[in-house]
Amino acid sequence: MDRNTAQQKIQELSAKLHYYNYKYYQESVSEISDFEFDMMLKELINLEGQFPELKTDDSPSQRVGGDITKNFETVEHKIPMLSLGNTYSKEELEDFDGRVKRGLGEEEYEYFCELKFDGVAISLHYENGKLIRGVTRGDGSKGDDITKNAKTIRTIPLKVRGEKFPEYFEARGEVFLPREAFNEINRGREENEEALLANPRNAASGSLKMQDSAVVAKRKLDCFLYSYAGEDLPIDSHEEGIKQLEKFGFNVSQTYQKCKNINEVFDFIKEWEEKRHALDVDTDGIVVKVNSLAQQERLGFTAKSPRWAIAYKYKAESSTTILREITYQVGRTGAVTPVANLEPVSLAGTTVKRASLHNANEIARLDLRVGDTVHVEKGGEIIPKITAVDLTKRDLGSKEVDYIKNCPECGTELVRAEGEAVHYCPNRKGCPPQIKGSIEHYIQRKAADIDSMGERTIHLLYEKSLVRNIADLYDLTYEDVFKLEGFKDLSTQNLLKGIEASKKIPFENILFGLGIRFVGKTVAEKLVAHFKTIKKLSEASFEELTEVPEIGERIAQSVVEYFHDDDNIALIERLKSVGLQFEIKENIIEQKGNALEGKSLVVSGVFDNYGRDEIKDVIKQHGGKVVSAISGKVDILVAGENMGPAKRQKAEKLEIKIINETEFRSLIKEN
Ligand code: IVH
Repeated sequence: MDRNTAQQKIQELSAKLHYYNYKYYQESVSEISDFEFDMMLKELINLEGQFPELKTDDSPSQRVGGDITKNFETVEHKIPMLSLGNTYSKEELEDFDGRVKRGLGEEEYEYFCELKFDGVAISLHYENGKLIRGVTRGDGSKGDDITKNAKTIRTIPLKVRGEKFPEYFEARGEVFLPREAFNEINRGREENEEALLANPRNAASGSLKMQDSAVVAKRKLDCFLYSYAGEDLPIDSHEEGIKQLEKFGFNVSQTYQKCKNINEVFDFIKEWEEKRHALDVDTDGIVVKVNSLAQQERLGFTAKSPRWAIAYKYKAESSTTILREITYQVGRTGAVTPVANLEPVSLAGTTVKRASLHNANEIARLDLRVGDTVHVEKGGEIIPKITAVDLTKRDLGSKEVDYIKNCPECGTELVRAEGEAVHYCPNRKGCPPQIKGSIEHYIQRKAADIDSMGERTIHLLYEKSLVRNIADLYDLTYEDVFKLEGFKDLSTQNLLKGIEASKKIPFENILFGLGIRFVGKTVAEKLVAHFKTIKKLSEASFEELTEVPEIGERIAQSVVEYFHDDDNIALIERLKSVGLQFEIKENIIEQKGNALEGKSLVVSGVFDNYGRDEIKDVIKQHGGKVVSAISGKVDILVAGENMGPAKRQKAEKLEIKIINETEFRSLIKEN
């Protein structure tokens, strides 16, 4: 493709992608499928790869990230980013209203109320309508330049909508991780037995400071804007500023409200006190702003904050109650979690009866004793936690908690690995919650996908001694299931059908379903792509495993241990014999020639006639082997456009034959 055509195509694709992105994220309308969108984006990225000089700073391709920032540059805020004064009571809010009234000499005024979003403050700088910089609040006068990361947030316009905009302005707001996205990340981390993220706010601020913007792009951050700032903007009120931001295509939370007086502000506070918990964003209060900009100017600022705005914080969602008992839960992996059983108490709209205590260290840290009066809090965290003990109320006769030594479910002595906080029950194959948990893990969608089965059925099957491991599922008969409580003909057939269908589920899902410690879905995919069959995987040594990209020592050790256990081998043999998939069905590569027989090739850069994976398939179709790195063992380097100079130099040094796309095509005799 020549440069002019490419330029035209890039412009066309960019305009379309900006449009569909806006429609999707701001109006929740999908005019095209995700697949079509991805294909267009891919095409754009490809073209920009071939003609890097045509890539613009506001290209939709910036959304996927990829740039690494080693050190975030410090940037001075042209307009300082102040904080707000906080109040916790109606009285203080009335005092604020009194100060406003006096400050304005009894002139009429109105308030604009918004929710106070609990995330990370950001200022987005726009020049000629284009996003040129994203800066964190920092200390209010200087912040970090996190532009590359900000550009990955889909709801932040890379260029504003419409034709009329000031030459320069800033849109300020709060970057946050929606609760659903936060929970999803933690579900994945739990599955991989990684430490959980504490709360959405920390997760958002951590994400914004990541060096690799491609990782940030996957985090699903969002941003609500609440301030339109700049010099001589053509607006007279905060409300007009907000409406302008909406017109420009920014994401403004539709929870704001104009209030005629402080009583209406109180109504707003009351309205959102409970309702806010249903939002997908954490909030910790409301912000009250004098609406007129002229009046804001007259009221001015104190050293730290504006006199025309204030934050009303909802009472820390904390309460006191009594710790009745500590019980212990055993999870799928055998990890033991102590649970505080509390005198029921109402907190943030729900009745709290239990709180997680995490592990023995946490109990010791809190110096917790049964019968204690404890403070419980529901912060950003979903599960309430005990934050402190009220020692003044402690019963003199109370005793320190004696942490259990044996599994509460099967009696086996617990173990605690050196340096680990958590106790484990080592009886993986005989401990009821571990057995049931391993089956629950196996049937989930990402694994064997037996959706006709649920937790209750597993419990029934276990109670009736019909299953003790996942292989037993395949021995279940119609009679076995039919006699279970609640099962009729149709449900029985359904369940058996679901089990039968799992025999067609791909190997990587089944491998994940086996529940090998530290082998989450992504790891399972990596292992399967590398070893291809369970036989090869089970025979792999620790060293061979650690050679697989992204497989670390902890995972390798766990895989080796798993396949050294005769019971596990027997289980897999049973699963194999009933017909489960333990090999990948490779893309059957149809042999088209042997021009590359016995040769190892590296491909680099982009090609006119082939996609990246496509050219690899073509190489295989002609008998060649594709390797990823240049080394002495490589015979040919197929160099596309934009290949890195370092690769070429290395290849030249090793005297590897370098061919271009045309030469490659003639080598395999393809026109
Ligand atoms: S207005 C001059 N509006 O709360 C102050 N702030 O201490 C301009 N925040 O750092 C801030 N929601 O990160 C404003 N609707 C909202 C807000 C909000 C959250 C945060 C912001 C700021 C802190 C105030």
